[in-house]
Amino acid sequence: MDILKVKNYEEMSKTAAEYIIKEVRQYPSIKLGLATGSTPVGTYKHLIEDHKSNGTSYKDVTTFNLDEYIGLSGNHPSSYRYFMNSILFDHLDISKKNTYIPSGVANDMEKECFDYERLLDRRAGIDLQILGIGSNGHIGFNEPGTSFSSKTHLVDLAQSTREANARFFSNLDEVPDQAITMGISTIMKSKEILLLVSGEAKSEATKQLLAGNIAEQFPASILRKHTNVKIIADKAALAEIRVHS
Ligand code: PGA
Repeated sequence: MDILKVKNYEEMSKTAAEYIIKEVRQYPSIKLGLATGSTPVGTYKHLIEDHKSNGTSYKDVTTFNLDEYIGLSGNHPSSYRYFMNSILFDHLDISKKNTYIPSGVANDMEKECFDYERLLDRRAGIDLQILGIGSNGHIGFNEPGTSFSSKTHLVDLAQSTREANARFFSNLDEVPDQAITMGISTIMKSKEILLLVSGEAKSEATKQLLAGNIAEQFPASILRKHTNVKIIADKAALAEIRVHS
C-alpha cells in the first residue's frame, strides 16, 4: 500500500481530487466506485469546482456506490442516493442513469444484492474505488466479522456505526438498523483503491490497518492484500504511525 501523508483534511481532499481528475481526463469512460460519509465530501467539492472551472467532463463516466440504508428511498434526505445527488451528481455533467447505488427499498432484497453484484461483473468492475474507513475498521458497511469472501449483501449495522452516523439523521432512532453493501470481495475486485483517512478519531483504525493482523474482525485489513491501494491520510490520522512524508 502506498501511503501519502498530508497536512490536513483540506490537503487530503485536494490531493484525492487531483488524482481522480487526472484519471477521468485520461480515461473518460472510467468506472468509479464512490463512498458516502464525511470523508469524501471535500474531495467531491473539488471535483465540482474543477468541473466548473476547467470543464472536466463526466458525461461518459459510470459510478457505483458502496452501500445504501435499508428502508430509505432515494427521496429520503438521509439516503445515500439523496446524498450523492445533492453533494456531487447534481453539479456535474454526469448522466444519472450511469450512477448506480443499490436500492434500499427493493421488494426482493436478495435479488437486489444479486443484481448489483452481477451488474458490477457484467460491467467488468470498478477501475478506481474511493474508500473511507470506519473507526471499527469497516469498509462500505462491512462490519467487523464480515467474511472476506462476501459479495453484495444485507448487513445489520453495528451500534457504533449507527451512533457515528446519527449526525446525518434527526435522532439515533431514525438511523436504520440494516444496510445493503458491496461485499469485501466485491471491493477487492476494484482495480485500484484510493483510501482517504482524516482526523484523530481515525488514528486507532489507521494504526490497526497498517500494523495490525489481517483478520475479519478488522475488515479494512484485507486491503493489505490488494496490489493497488493508495492511502491519503492526514497527520492526525497517522498520529500513531511513523511514516516518511
Ligand atoms: P466517515 O465514514 O467518512 O463519515 O468518517 C467513513 C466510513 O464509515 O466508512
